[in-house]
Amino acid sequence: MNRDLSESGFDLKQIDRLLTTTRAVRKRLDFARDVTDDVIFECIDLAEQAPTGGNDASRRWLVIRDQGLKDQLGSLYAEVGTLFLQARGRLEGTGHPKEHVVSSSAYLVDNFSKAPALVICAIWGLHDNSGRPGLFDSAIPSAWSFNLALRSRGLGTAYATMLNNKTAEVSKILGIPNGVTTLVCFPVAYTIGQEFSPAPRRPASNITYFDQWGFTRELPSADGSARIQDGPGVVTEIDTDARPRKVWEVISDINMPALFSNEFVGAEWVSQDQTGVGSRFTGRNSIPGLRDWETECIVTEWVERQVFEWRITDPDNPGAIWRFDLAEQGTGSRLRFSMVIGKENNGTAPRAQEDPSRENAVLFERRLIHKSNMQRVVEGVKTLVDDGPNVDQ
Ligand SMILES: Cc1cc2nc3c(=O)[nH]c(=O)nc-3n(C[C@H](O)[C@H](O)[C@H](O)COP(=O)(O)O)c2cc1C
Repeated sequence: MNRDLSESGFDLKQIDRLLTTTRAVRKRLDFARDVTDDVIFECIDLAEQAPTGGNDASRRWLVIRDQGLKDQLGSLYAEVGTLFLQARGRLEGTGHPKEHVVSSSAYLVDNFSKAPALVICAIWGLHDNSGRPGLFDSAIPSAWSFNLALRSRGLGTAYATMLNNKTAEVSKILGIPNGVTTLVCFPVAYTIGQEFSPAPRRPASNITYFDQWGFTRELPSADGSARIQDGPGVVTEIDTDARPRKVWEVISDINMPALFSNEFVGAEWVSQDQTGVGSRFTGRNSIPGLRDWETECIVTEWVERQVFEWRITDPDNPGAIWRFDLAEQGTGSRLRFSMVIGKENNGTAPRAQEDPSRENAVLFERRLIHKSNMQRVVEGVKTLVDDGPNVDQ
């Protein structure tokens, strides 16, 4: 058997390359090379294989070739894109995480009308927020297939939606009737070079939940149920208006969870260092009326304003891994509080493994309790940081 072929006969290496390297292309669009109608028709035919709600045939495509019309759309795109041009000026040379995407997006703002073809994906109908499928939901899958079809043929584009802020003007320029929704206007061109890299994205295990919102597993389970050996965990997240600096002040205080969690009583530093990897503290916990216990906690990751991770008892064989991740989100922050239950050095693992037929249930129940405590913690942090004045840049 050819090991490169999947069960369904696809060359997985090639298919996966297509799926992982279809990037937003802007600076590497070749404006000097023409794109023929045949390749556009071909890509639209492929895109039309995408599903639609109720198998309804309402998608329409509008290809703009006329330079005068492209210039008018380019001017509208530039009006909406001024923000990118301003941000480019501010971020240039700063190494800010958004510098690259802002510079690339601003380049497209400057050059939108130079694309050999602008291709609009549209659909008959107006979004009525009814929750019924059929509109955006039916156009978006084919718009993405169009991207993939372009990439497989040596062309590229960016999923450009900014003209949606100018629908009345766009409709007037292109004679689009009332009752049609335009979703995206692709600047289509051959790409300069064919090598594109996969983007850094979160791994599936980080953002995939099983059976309950927030229930993670580090490893795929052999039979689909939660097992201690697969690293069952819990994630809670919250968005704050406050910037990361202010949130960090609260979450890097080891006594903070005690304010909110039902189990966490308090903590005390036992190492001289009270920050940074290797510092240690004792945590005191209690399930009222049931048991009290102490845990030794070792800080295993510490990146100011980003990550605070500590492990229980033994960093190499932790009873649990606890972690705060903090990142900018819009004008505020997103706080992620997560934990993974360890294979030993805790009370849960032996209980879960006592009876394999109950392992999933024991882990489910324990994680429900963790989740509600952790939810209380992140909500408590939000209340603290969003009430006061918002410091920081
Ligand atoms: C819904 C949506 C809207 C987008 N709108 C624009 C846009 O108006 N202009 C633009 O240059 N890129 C736009 N993009 C492209 C994103 O900026 C791009 O996907 C992102 O920078 C990540 O790059 P990558 O896809 O190469 O990983 C949009 C993407 C999506 C999914």
